[in-house]
Amino acid sequence: MFRKRSRIFGAAFACLVFTVSDAQADGAPELMQGAGCMACHSVDKKLVGPAFSWIAYRYKGDKSAVPKLTKKIQAGGAGNWNALTGGVPMPPHPQISVEQATIMVKWILSQKPVPVPK
Ligand code: HEC
Repeated sequence: MFRKRSRIFGAAFACLVFTVSDAQADGAPELMQGAGCMACHSVDKKLVGPAFSWIAYRYKGDKSAVPKLTKKIQAGGAGNWNALTGGVPMPPHPQISVEQATIMVKWILSQKPVPVPK
């Protein structure tokens, strides 16, 4: 009896976890693919811009990271990763809404935080 109940609970829990993680991702990788981000970024390597894992490490615990990086996606700019990029700027993306940029930033910050390799 107990076993059976815990199995049912287990299934319900699995469903819940699936639903929550699904909602958090919210199609961010597809959004970023469509917006051309992946031409300059990857999760764990430098392309033109920093790897998303390095961005996650840098802004870990920074409560203003979401609005700050959302603005950076829309407005573009250089200066935060000069040692890595030699001062190449990120281009502005005025066509991306605050809502979409926020989804992207939350996904980026949810990547495994890794310091930039020396
Ligand atoms: C043409 C290449 C290019 C494209 C396209 C691009 N980026 Fe970037 N990105 C960069 C560079 C270069 C930097 C480093 C800027 C700096 O030094 O402040 C950067 C930095 C970032 C940062 C960290 C900003 C900071 O101040 O620490 C985030 C977050 C980011 N990009 C997200 C995105 C997203 C999301 C997209 C797609 C909408 C995107 N990028 C498209 C080149 C690009």
